[in-house]
Amino acid sequence: MSRDDKRRRKRRQRTEENPKSVWIMMSAAVVLGVVIIAMVAQLVRLNRQGERLNTQTKTEASVDNSAENSKKAGESKKAKGTEAPQETQAPAVEHIRKDLDPDKPMVALTFDDGPYDRVTNRIVKVLAKNDSRATFFVVGNRVERYADTMKNAFNKGNQISTHTFDHGDLSKMKKKQIRRELTRAFRVMKKINGEEPTMLRPPYGNVNDKMRRTIKIPMIYWSVDTEDWASRNSKKILKKCKSISDGDIVLMHDLYPSTAGAVEKLVPKLRKKGFQLVTVEELFYYKGIDAEGGKVYFSGK
Ligand code: NI
Repeated sequence: MSRDDKRRRKRRQRTEENPKSVWIMMSAAVVLGVVIIAMVAQLVRLNRQGERLNTQTKTEASVDNSAENSKKAGESKKAKGTEAPQETQAPAVEHIRKDLDPDKPMVALTFDDGPYDRVTNRIVKVLAKNDSRATFFVVGNRVERYADTMKNAFNKGNQISTHTFDHGDLSKMKKKQIRRELTRAFRVMKKINGEEPTMLRPPYGNVNDKMRRTIKIPMIYWSVDTEDWASRNSKKILKKCKSISDGDIVLMHDLYPSTAGAVEKLVPKLRKKGFQLVTVEELFYYKGIDAEGGKVYFSGK
């Protein structure tokens, strides 16, 4: 082999080896690339997680803030609250059914002095079973003890309004005391139902001019008195209900099992007669009564 030949051979060998080394280098580059991409992806993922955690704590902080604010909130804050976006709030209970027949008779059964689980739950049950609703004028100091009972009545579409906080005689109170009675009642009801009552049944049926000037919601009396608290007798209560006619507001008390017993018979009976059993709000809506604060209403007639 000549020198030249050797050189040529080496060159050939090199050129033959070349594609191999190129291939190795390319593979190494690809592997390195993959490793780098994987590392970058991991970094991006970690970064995003961090951001998410950040925003989460921020939202939690703002929720905490708003909860605290609403705790401190007075009347003015309440108005602002209604303007805030409501997407996180549960859908409110529909207070006025729109599918009632204005040409058919309506009656509003009302119950004072509760809630009281043993009696109220029976009434709520028979109402729901008969596609009916009623109004409960609750005593504020009972509300927390019977919170579940009241909330259940509320969730079934019944109207929950107030009978003051301590069942005090508002006609014997100073303005400041009247306001205090109502503010306390409003507060405890809002805590559980998420909204304040819009009507008042004055304890003992007593109203005076001072109350008319001080109280900002309508005061609801009745046109049929069952005297259930006096008789405590289902038959006698039912007898008092015989006179019920379109637009009546009926006074009862969800404190006595005899009242629940009477209502369990009365509700299907009235339905059979074609009555629609409605809340006071519904009654006023369908009868075109625009109830004003501080005024007294006896019926929807
Ligand atoms: Ni009462």
